[in-house]
Amino acid sequence: MNGKHWTAVDTYITDQLIPADAALDAALSANQKAGLPAHDVSPPQGKFLQLLALAIGARRILEIGTLGGYSTIWLARALPDGGRLVTLEAEPRHAEVARGNIARAGLTHLIDLRVGPALDHLPAIEAEALGPFDLVFIDADKPNNPAYLEWALRLTRPGSLIIGDNVVRDGAVVDPDYPDARVQGIRRFFDDIAANPRLSATALQTVGAKGWDGFAMALVL
Ligand code: SAH
Ligand code: DHB
Ligand code: MG
Repeated sequence: MNGKHWTAVDTYITDQLIPADAALDAALSANQKAGLPAHDVSPPQGKFLQLLALAIGARRILEIGTLGGYSTIWLARALPDGGRLVTLEAEPRHAEVARGNIARAGLTHLIDLRVGPALDHLPAIEAEALGPFDLVFIDADKPNNPAYLEWALRLTRPGSLIIGDNVVRDGAVVDPDYPDARVQGIRRFFDDIAANPRLSATALQTVGAKGWDGFAMALVL
C-alpha cells in the first residue's frame, strides 16, 4: 500500500477506460502553467462524476468550487442540449483560467460561471430560479460545507444527488479533535447529513493519484 502504486493503478484505469481528451488535457496544462493548486479531481474521479450525471439524466448541475474548471468540463459534458451548469468560484484568477479552459472545450454556452464567495451568490441563484438542480457537487472551502449542504437542500428536489469531495483527508476525518477547520467542516457535514431525514447517504474512500481521500454522496428523498 503506497502512493506510487495508487498512482500507477490510476494510470492503468485511465489508460484502459478514459480516452485521451484534448480539452481536458489542455485544461490541466493551463492550470499548471497558471500556478493553480493541483486540487482538481483525478481523471477517474472526473469520469465517475460524469457517469453519475449521465445516469440520473441531469439537466441542471450546481458546482461549488470551480478552480480551473476541470471537474466542470467533465460534468458539463454529461448535459443534454439546453442543460445548464452553474459553477461558483471565489478567486478571480482561478475563474479566468477556468473561462479559457471552458471555452477551449466548447462548453461556454452550457456553463454559468460566477465569481465571488459562493455564499454571496447562492441567494441570487435561488431568486433567479436556476434550480432545482439534479446534481450538486460541493468542492470548495470545506469549513463552509455545512452551509453549502443547507443551500444544496434548498436548491434540489427529491431524486437529486449531492456529492461532496475530500471527505476523508488522509483519514483525519475520524479524529474529533483534529485541529484543522477543513476537517471540522467535513465532520459537521457528515453530522448534518446523518441528522437529516430528507437524505440517504454514503461515502466512499478513494486512493489514487490524489492520495487518500473520498466522496460523500447523498440522495435527496
Ligand atoms: N472542483 C475543482 C476543484 C476545486 S478546488 C476540480 O475538481 O477541478 C476548490 C476551489 O474552491 C478553489 O478554486 C478555491 O478558490 C474555491 N473556493 C474557496 N473558497 C470558496 C468560496 N467561499 N466560494 C467559492 N469558491 C471557493
Ligand atoms: C484541497 C481541496 C480540494 O478540493 C481537493 O480536491 C484537494 C485538496 C485543499 O484545500 O487542500
Ligand atoms: Mg476537491
